Amino acid sequence: MTAELVEPVGVGYPVLEARGVTMIFGGLTALNDVSLTLHHGQIFGLIGPNGAGKTTFFNCLTGLYTPTRGEVVLHGVPLTGDPAAVTIAGIARTFQNIRLFPNMTVLENVLVGRHCRMRQGPIASLLHGPVFRRVEREARERSRELLAFVGLSKMEGEVARNLPYGDQRRLEIARALATDPKVLLLDEPTAGMNPQETDATRHLIFQIRDTGVAAVVIEHDTKFIFGLCDQVAVLVQGELLVEGTPETVRDDPRVIEAYLGKPREEVEAEVRAAAAEHGREDG
Ligand SMILES: Nc1ncnc2c1ncn2[C@@H]1O[C@H](COP(=O)(O)OP(=O)(O)OP(=O)(O)O)[C@@H](O)[C@H]1O
Ligand SMILES: [Mg+2]
Repeated sequence: MTAELVEPVGVGYPVLEARGVTMIFGGLTALNDVSLTLHHGQIFGLIGPNGAGKTTFFNCLTGLYTPTRGEVVLHGVPLTGDPAAVTIAGIARTFQNIRLFPNMTVLENVLVGRHCRMRQGPIASLLHGPVFRRVEREARERSRELLAFVGLSKMEGEVARNLPYGDQRRLEIARALATDPKVLLLDEPTAGMNPQETDATRHLIFQIRDTGVAAVVIEHDTKFIFGLCDQVAVLVQGELLVEGTPETVRDDPRVIEAYLGKPREEVEAEVRAAAAEHGREDG
């Protein structure tokens, strides 16, 4: 039997670093001095109340916004440039509100993602010569592999808008993976999903991690996040409130307070009261 080098989760080298990222819109500080490091092999969870700055953080990581202060570093290299350049550098994302090409087929949607890795020159494209045909064939093969990976092989000829909601989310993930990312950012991947779809998404994210792609996942469903991630950060009003393992974050009184807007003692008293009530009903 060959010994395999298995890297323990969470202790890989740094892949993506946000260093003091601050984003100010007019008078509103949406992010204030946020520093986070994503390591190879990690699934990193980002949680926080509505308007905390989670999506803005993704927009800063992907070049959609240029941070007012701070920088984003991928494999030691500061990222500059627009989203297309950031995609080429190795960061892919999905959006909080699904952004597919609704009238294109499932396969075509993935091919669009693949396009950024197709380097054939304009002459080859124009002439549709052998180089173009080979590159096209390879792109289709890779796209089909990815559709199989996310469980959508049978749907490849379907128009994207006809897909059930959960499948549209999976298609967006396939399209993001088609760019050959080192880092995948998922903005609320299970929003609006039923429990079965949510469970399937959890498995899919684990599988993606196992292929060597590190992931950052934004979700409101904290149960989902705590069961999925190696490391979790909590953003509140643009500030990084707490960062740690799911266990540490879950039990942190500041997190309970931020979520419920009440001091911990009050929350605990409510839990005790509910338990007592429940006990009476049971008995
Ligand atoms: N382009 C923009 N211009 C002005 N303000 C913005 C812009 N983008 C985001 N904001 C503001 O920044 C704050 C953070 O918004 P963001 O969308 O990042 O929150 P979020 O944590 O993703 O919330 P949700 O959980 O509701 O998706 C909000 O007050 C929002 O209105
Ligand atoms: Mg958001």
